[in-house]
Amino acid sequence: MADNIRVLIVDDLPETRENVRKLLQFEQDIEVINQAGTGEQAIEMAQADQPDIILMDINMPGIDGIGASQRISELVPGTQIIIMSVQSDSDYLRRAMMAGARDFLTKPFGGDELVAAIRRVYNKRPTITATSNRMVQAGSGISAETIPQAVAGNVVAVFSPKGGSGCSTIAINLSIGLAKNGYNTSLIDGSLQFGDVAVMLNMKPITSVVDLSDHVSELDNDLISSVVQKHKSGLNVLLAPPRPEMAEVVTEENIKDLLTSLRQMYDFIVVDTSSSLDGITLGILDTADRIVLVTQQNLPSLKNVSRFFDLSNSLDYEPEKVCLVVNRASDKRGISVKDISNTLKRPVIMSIPSDEGIVNTAIDQGVPLLTGPNKRRPVSLAIGKLADQLVQDLTSRKGVINKVDNELNKPTGLLGRLFKR
Ligand SMILES: Nc1ncnc2c1ncn2[C@@H]1O[C@H](COP(=O)(O)OP(=O)(O)O)[C@@H](O)[C@H]1O
Ligand SMILES: [Mg+2]
Repeated sequence: MADNIRVLIVDDLPETRENVRKLLQFEQDIEVINQAGTGEQAIEMAQADQPDIILMDINMPGIDGIGASQRISELVPGTQIIIMSVQSDSDYLRRAMMAGARDFLTKPFGGDELVAAIRRVYNKRPTITATSNRMVQAGSGISAETIPQAVAGNVVAVFSPKGGSGCSTIAINLSIGLAKNGYNTSLIDGSLQFGDVAVMLNMKPITSVVDLSDHVSELDNDLISSVVQKHKSGLNVLLAPPRPEMAEVVTEENIKDLLTSLRQMYDFIVVDTSSSLDGITLGILDTADRIVLVTQQNLPSLKNVSRFFDLSNSLDYEPEKVCLVVNRASDKRGISVKDISNTLKRPVIMSIPSDEGIVNTAIDQGVPLLTGPNKRRPVSLAIGKLADQLVQDLTSRKGVINKVDNELNKPTGLLGRLFKR
């Protein structure tokens, strides 16, 4: 028989703790092992009891739920945290997810909702290996202010299920933002057939992804360096081939192996992707530690993004893997950012304002926003901020967990992944 799911309840109000305990008392597989009334107590109990799940209130005197979650994710990475809060606005949810929460429940919630969340989070918990535990411990002293040395090669894919959403613009400027912060960064054009990175950076595809995908078994730093081209900004770029048919030789396995090899060389590998969900794109999304999922404020975009979230659940992507970003954001037009977040039940981690003049000029002249004369404009600053957030997110906790384990022995292909169980 499976072990019980051991739960710690954290809330400063004793009657709330008691109500939550009562909602769980008849569940055979769930055991409330302890209750804490403060963030400090929660951290102590988490270390002593190593619960499977912590139900965490946010508003508490002293260390609040966000602070306690952050500390617990560092100290006890095997424990999964579900936030309980009356607040459900996107900024709150984003902070909770960044602090390490796996799920959130908006108060008041019913027993069914609570039990479903506990089982869902428990069943999707990552297997923490000794190595990943050590890596998390090593990174635990890192704050957003210090340049974190513990960054391992993180793959960030920029994807939208709707073409023309701004993926290439974001991928290019995001990678320049990361490089400017001192990270050894590479940008890969994963839109192999009709990639735009070369044009948008004013570069020639003399070498391309194809030159490396032929040699995945013998990839070493020298070979990679000879194919990767340097952009004027200092960014390392791996372009798409000059003709669409040349991309045909690249397989899903090739691209996964290539990204895995690039992890050894770069702190960040940013991949611009095509919006069609073919094997190549899926291989990139699977391998990525974070997917920047780009939407716009209109119904077709929202519909496609919602379908992608369904797919990402079926593919067992962790909720924090997919980071929702609204591009061409405007207060005046379209569905509000708040409504997008509420509808999709996901935090919007960044809104990038619309600025057609500047963005189009940057594309036409092949001078990226973050290197050109407009680097202080709101659209550029927002992409720079997105880079900072991803750094904070990936260095403060899970970016390094199970990276290697996850990539081994996964069934490939969309159908293979969906029907693996
Ligand atoms: N924040 C923005 N404000 C205004 N226009 C934008 C913005 N981001 C992208 N665009 C425009 O949208 C179009 C598509 O952008 P692109 O980055 O090529 O998207 P994708 O790679 O998703 O197809 C371009 O014409 C670009 O100028
Ligand atoms: Mg593009």
